[in-house]
Amino acid sequence: MSSSYYEKLLANNKKWVEKMKKKDESYFENLAIGQTPPVLWIGCADSRVPANEITCTRPGELFVHRNIANMVVHTDMNMLSVLDYAVNHLKVKHVIVCGHYGCGGVKAAMENKSIGLINKWIRNIKEVYNNNSKELKRIKDDKKRFDRLVELNVKAQVFDLAKTSIVQKAWKDNTGLQIHGWVYKLDGIIKDLNVSMDSAADLGEIFTLDLD
Ligand code: CO
Repeated sequence: MSSSYYEKLLANNKKWVEKMKKKDESYFENLAIGQTPPVLWIGCADSRVPANEITCTRPGELFVHRNIANMVVHTDMNMLSVLDYAVNHLKVKHVIVCGHYGCGGVKAAMENKSIGLINKWIRNIKEVYNNNSKELKRIKDDKKRFDRLVELNVKAQVFDLAKTSIVQKAWKDNTGLQIHGWVYKLDGIIKDLNVSMDSAADLGEIFTLDLD
């Protein structure tokens, strides 16, 4: 087998280990002790949006969950397990949903092509479109409408986080948990959508759970 891309990755890794050890001899020993990340990052699986790199954070700072179009789907055991662990065990102070303009998952949701299994995932974004169809239909420019759906989708996922018993219990216990919605632009800048929540006050009665 000729030298391949994956071999290059392993070689890069060795170089990285040497570089980190040169800076701090006990770097890996310290990391091995444990993690207390202050943030859970829920982002898109898109290769152009690497959570640590775009926020200049190092190993140990972000607990990360990524899926297509940074979704918070209330039946997704993977996402719920990550959220539960992050909030109740790691005691993160912030959960950030970070979407990005140009998101392929959101784009697919705006079209009518059937693309197999992923239809089921994408349908959650179609619901966001449908819930905001008045506003979106008024936007005549295709790109602007696409950008707006990216934002509305992030906003909806933040709201969906607030609907979970995990987040509501943290609020009830006054842990100081905050949830936020951001959008990354492919020029590198992150835009804060200012949809942060730190209590169930704006959640709406129907979604508020009676918790012990
Ligand atoms: Co994406």
